[in-house]
Amino acid sequence: MSISFRQLAILAVGLLFVLAAALIFFNSSPLGSGPIATAASQAELIARGKYLATAGNCASCHTAERGEFMAGGLPFDTPFGTLYSTNISPDSETGIGAWSQRGFLNAMRHGVRPTGEHLYPAFPYTAFTKIKDEDVLAIYVYLQSIPPVTQTPFENSLSFPFSVRPLMGFWKAMYFNAGEFEVIASQTDEWNRGAYLVDALAHCSACHSPRNLLGAEKTQLAMSGGEYIDQVNSEARRPWAAPNITATQRGLALWSHKDVKDYLKTARNDFLESYGPMNEVIINSTSHLTQSDVNAMATYLKDLPAIDESAGSAPTALLMGRGRTVYNLHCGTCHLPTGEGDPKMAPKLNAGSLVVQSENPASMINAILFSPKTPGPPLLPKWRHPMEEFRYLLDDNEVAAVTTFIRNSWRNSAGTVTPEQVARQR
Ligand code: HEC
Ligand code: HEC
Ligand code: HEC
Repeated sequence: MSISFRQLAILAVGLLFVLAAALIFFNSSPLGSGPIATAASQAELIARGKYLATAGNCASCHTAERGEFMAGGLPFDTPFGTLYSTNISPDSETGIGAWSQRGFLNAMRHGVRPTGEHLYPAFPYTAFTKIKDEDVLAIYVYLQSIPPVTQTPFENSLSFPFSVRPLMGFWKAMYFNAGEFEVIASQTDEWNRGAYLVDALAHCSACHSPRNLLGAEKTQLAMSGGEYIDQVNSEARRPWAAPNITATQRGLALWSHKDVKDYLKTARNDFLESYGPMNEVIINSTSHLTQSDVNAMATYLKDLPAIDESAGSAPTALLMGRGRTVYNLHCGTCHLPTGEGDPKMAPKLNAGSLVVQSENPASMINAILFSPKTPGPPLLPKWRHPMEEFRYLLDDNEVAAVTTFIRNSWRNSAGTVTPEQVARQR
């Protein structure tokens, strides 16, 4: 293919933009150099780093299924193609063994490698940038203490222009502000600790915030619900809705401070049990945090200002009638005809489920088509029988009807679900 003058001109202008953007970026947030000062002993640092790495859930993303600890290789499906997490074990050839403290800090705070290459924000440095210097250092010391694994990172398969790493400089200039977490003096210490854990380390917003066409989080709508591709119970990969966790009637307003704390600490509360991507968040990360840290997270989360979602279109009486029939036939034995649930058979569906009330029904449909995946060890089984996969039993119209029925019965009010929305998940 020959390149026309016009195309060359466009390319040249594009490159200028990138250069300008990179300049803005590097000017606004200069990379530091030299070692980071600390007074703590090596053993203290390792223990603290391990705790912080758990709060940041590095292992869930950097350890592939049946793979070696922190050796990378987990795929991430994005609208721009697939990329893989890298090896962050201390192997000096294929991992980060040869990285200096400062090189590591620059990756976490600025999303750049020691070579100067930009990193993709599937690595949530948009949140990690807020981690304090001394905490980044502790994580570094911990990672340097784990067994090194020789494993070359996988080749990404991203579409053009996202495959061009230098273009990430442009993206960062537009959407990324590097900088440590700032304490809000008018709030309590507990609130600030919660904000630090939720926003800097646990990166809840990476999944729970909506993103724009270029994959950047919409900060004004933070925590009001996002979408994320991950495994369903059958191991296939499907979109999941991470529901609105602000204080709306469909979000965390439904839960008490204790419900939030119990959910993050034990994967369960009086309403329900986690069953999707939250299983790993809770089992690998939040359940290991101290009671006081989980308390602080709940305090901050319960205080997120409400952002309302669209109410959706009201269902027709015909659709509700069809849905009720499917429900009474297939669901009511466990979830009870009142949606009240049963401590041994099934969770409540009549109120308190964020997933049931979410504007985006993807996660609720995943539960019905593929069955919910219970969190697993170390959590002991709670239910007498597992819920079955209804994808073999119910067609798209029936699943749409029963989903709509549940979302608009009892104390729920969350709009109609269409057969097309079900087909997209199947
Ligand atoms: C949501 C998934 C996710 C989480 C959580 C995560 N990472 Fe990553 N990380 C990635 C991906 C994907 C990449 C590769 C980015 C790229 O290729 O540009 C990456 C890259 C990195 C890199 C750059 C490595 C290199 O070779 O260039 C470092 C360092 C890193 N992560 C450290 C961490 C630490 C420390 C934590 C925990 C505090 C963590 N990551 C948590 C997904 C994640
Ligand atoms: C990897 C993506 C991801 C991350 C990170 C994540 N979530 Fe979620 N979250 C989801 C998805 C998807 C669901 C719905 C399915 C499920 O329960 O797994 C969900 C559900 C929830 C629910 C509602 C549960 C229900 O059944 O109604 C709450 C509350 C929640 N998340 C809080 C949090 C908090 C707090 C954090 C940070 C500590 C967090 N999430 C981090 C993806 C994520
Ligand atoms: C054999 C008993 C049983 C039957 C029948 C059953 N379920 Fe379930 N359902 C469960 C159990 C148990 C869970 C909780 C799994 C977990 O989270 O660990 C569950 C979870 C759910 C959830 C997720 C709730 C949340 O917020 O976490 C939805 C939605 C759901 N079921 C809908 C249905 C629908 C619709 C039907 C009928 C088509 C149905 N169930 C039939 C046992 C059952």
